[in-house]
Amino acid sequence: MMRQPKVGSAQSSPTLPTPAQGVRWTTPIVETPGIVVLTSWIWRLVRFLLTLPFRFPVMVACLVASAGAWWWLGWPGLAGLWGAAAVVSLVWWRTWPDSYRTWVTLRLLAWWRHVAVYRRHWQPVLVISGLAESYQERRYLPRIRRVSCNAWADYVRVSLVAGTAPADFEHRVTELAHGFAAPSCRVVVNGPRDITLEFPRRDTLAEPLNALPIIDAPDLDALPVGQREDGSPWLLRLHGTHVLVVGVTGAGKGSVIWSTVRAMLPALADGTAQVWAIDPKRMELAYGRDLFAHYADTGESAVALLEKAVTDMQERAERYAGKQRSHVPTTADPFVVVLLDEVAFLTAYHPDRDVRRRAENAIATLTSQGRSVGFAVLAALQDPRKEVMNLRNLFPDKVALRLDEASQVDMVLGEGARERGAEAHLIDPTLPGVAYVRVEDSPSPVRVRATYVSDEDITAMAEGYGVGSWKAE
Ligand SMILES: Nc1ncnc2c1ncn2[C@@H]1O[C@H](COP(=O)(O)OP(=O)(O)O)[C@@H](O)[C@H]1O
Ligand SMILES: [Mg+2]
Repeated sequence: MMRQPKVGSAQSSPTLPTPAQGVRWTTPIVETPGIVVLTSWIWRLVRFLLTLPFRFPVMVACLVASAGAWWWLGWPGLAGLWGAAAVVSLVWWRTWPDSYRTWVTLRLLAWWRHVAVYRRHWQPVLVISGLAESYQERRYLPRIRRVSCNAWADYVRVSLVAGTAPADFEHRVTELAHGFAAPSCRVVVNGPRDITLEFPRRDTLAEPLNALPIIDAPDLDALPVGQREDGSPWLLRLHGTHVLVVGVTGAGKGSVIWSTVRAMLPALADGTAQVWAIDPKRMELAYGRDLFAHYADTGESAVALLEKAVTDMQERAERYAGKQRSHVPTTADPFVVVLLDEVAFLTAYHPDRDVRRRAENAIATLTSQGRSVGFAVLAALQDPRKEVMNLRNLFPDKVALRLDEASQVDMVLGEGARERGAEAHLIDPTLPGVAYVRVEDSPSPVRVRATYVSDEDITAMAEGYGVGSWKAE
């Protein structure tokens, strides 16, 4: 809570004189002089008029222009001005009907949403969510500066009250989203005491997304693997990092894995990148075996593969030492993605203790040393608890698909992620592939959905781009 109510009364204050025995104490009434009240009212009026052009610039400009035309040119001037404005909007409407309609619709919508939703529910929602006190003066209520709309969301720009911070809003995003009947809420900080609340009007990720077209020259720093809630592409960085994908069974871990492999296909085909796949459940990756440079599905072979990756990585690191600081993918030194589905099968559930220990050691070595020499680990995991996967923190980037419990959100995305709106435990089970991720341009986690790469897509990918070298082993 930001401010405390003004507690204390005449009876409880220790500094007030104690009334003498038998004398009734009354609080002295001091009236504010009339001149002070009057000055205060005049000051408020002047301030209102002075700030009006900043709050409603278009309206004030129209009024001033109309008054000016009438003052200097009389009624014909005013009619001329309005006629010209009508002609301009007519020309706009006839020439670019779509842009005109969109502009007008979005303005009207913004006005309507401002009046009917945000202004109407502002104080109750803020009070009940604990962002304002119910009995305080209105000037201690954060103020709505502007509401604007685009095709999918409302943007409410808010002036904060002095002494509060954007984090106060970030910690109440769930309450705000429910309060304004939006599927979610995100806080964007514009500057001191100036934030924008983003409220989607509908869930743009409700429909499954088809696999994306294959790009000829993939950027391994920004692979398109799905869509963000705002409609922009979800770009996953793989080169120079390691990615851990966490979610319960059926959350869609496979779709993140396959969307990533699909985005890399041309690099796999020309030999500048390789995927080394480990599939302990023999379910997920078997379909696309031909795409992988190496493939393992038993505990022993998986550990051998991981240890081979470690040896190759260390050999490369030795060659680079003192000569090359970062990795550039070539056919001689390809970018190697070690792809591990259900990693806990190896590190926690495998019956052979030696396999578990060796797998864990190899993963720890790869994740801690592989980034700058072109080795990345992309691992999928069901249960993020420490005893199952204590290598979690070696993965710089994480994807939180649907999780079992609220407490797991921060385990995956880092402390404070849940408070900032990453409600991975509340993801609808009917929306597999929906996840929360941290992206570079936003402090708050972003809601995304991976594309759905069907079995037919995978078969076609293997036919078109397969390297098939795993067969040689
Ligand atoms: N991105 C997605 N979009 C739509 N449906 C999906 C998506 N990902 C998964 N699914 C559906 O959910 C099912 C389970 O997904 P899967 O990737 O096997 O989950 P996991 O590997 O997390 O257990 C799939 O068979 C598919 O029907
Ligand atoms: Mg799976």
